[in-house]
Amino acid sequence: MGTRIVGTGVYIPKTVLTNHDLEKMVDTSDEWIRTRTGIKERRIAKEESVLEMAVKASEEAIRSSGTRAEEIDLVIVATLTPEKRFPSTGCLLQSSIGAGRGFAFDITAACSGFIYALDVADSLLKVGRASKVLIVGVEKLSEIVDWEDRSTCVLFGDGAGAVLLESSDSESDLLASRMYSDGNLWDLLYAERDGFIKMRGRELFKVAVRNMEEVCREVLEEAGVEPKEVDLVIPHQANVRIIRSLAERLEIPMEKFYVNIDRYGNTSAASIPIALHEAIKEGRLKRGDLVLFTAMGGGLTWGAVLMRF
Ligand code: UT7
Repeated sequence: MGTRIVGTGVYIPKTVLTNHDLEKMVDTSDEWIRTRTGIKERRIAKEESVLEMAVKASEEAIRSSGTRAEEIDLVIVATLTPEKRFPSTGCLLQSSIGAGRGFAFDITAACSGFIYALDVADSLLKVGRASKVLIVGVEKLSEIVDWEDRSTCVLFGDGAGAVLLESSDSESDLLASRMYSDGNLWDLLYAERDGFIKMRGRELFKVAVRNMEEVCREVLEEAGVEPKEVDLVIPHQANVRIIRSLAERLEIPMEKFYVNIDRYGNTSAASIPIALHEAIKEGRLKRGDLVLFTAMGGGLTWGAVLMRF
């Protein structure tokens, strides 16, 4: 039995923060942010909590899948900004949406959280430990951003994306997947307990491009797929220049990369499920297509997943 994506949903916070707004807050410019990152604006969850965003995205995913919430027997939330210290946002979400018996937990893998969640969900589906899995990437990074630090505050945004997975005998499947971490490099990107995001951007940029290229090649090779056969790449949205370098190295044209960083900035674990939802809605991803997901984030963590959609 393969693993099939049967529904997706998003929650995009209402408040828009543009580069021009940021010009009034720190010593920066729209021109610098656009040319160095590709970001024009981002969303800020002023009134919405992490859990509320996760619930709204999940409800849309459940509705679009035709599944009943009671049938969901596993909930995985990828976040580095959980609703509470404990219980997990997964448990709170399980209750809020009325998911059935089964289990729920959070994954902390920063920007790679959604890749980790997808890989773990697929494994648990394939060994029969779950039959319908809800995975959610949700972040309220605006709470842990230092709004006086121009080197980080221009980069991040808030939001949520949800995906419902189930076992299926259709051709849809997760074909290959890899998760990696290197804790020796934790101090390239981190936040202390109750502290702000700290980042060594220039060093991270190089590692991100190198590691994502390697891990993408690894999953493609395992699945026996040539880079040119991939229909769509949905990368984590950290910097459009990282995405362009990855495209060049993999020799996959930029037209095959889904990019929405201009509207949302870096939403960490939420970036890939939001992009996936939009790609489906816009007709960029169709049943039977080969889709490659890849991300890199604090930990350091990175990974890639190749799916037949
Ligand atoms: O999601 C997890 C993974 N995240 C990443 O992989 C992020 C990777 N890193 C990056 O995306 C980029 O390194 C940044 C966007 C963070 C920074 O871009 P950069 O081209 O590497 O710039 P830089 O850090 O080398 O800084 C260049 C200059 C510096 O000034 P000097 O020293 O050259 O005079 C900075 O002080 O730009 C300055 N600068 C800014 N200027 C205007 C830094 N931030 C800003 C700003 N506005 N917001």
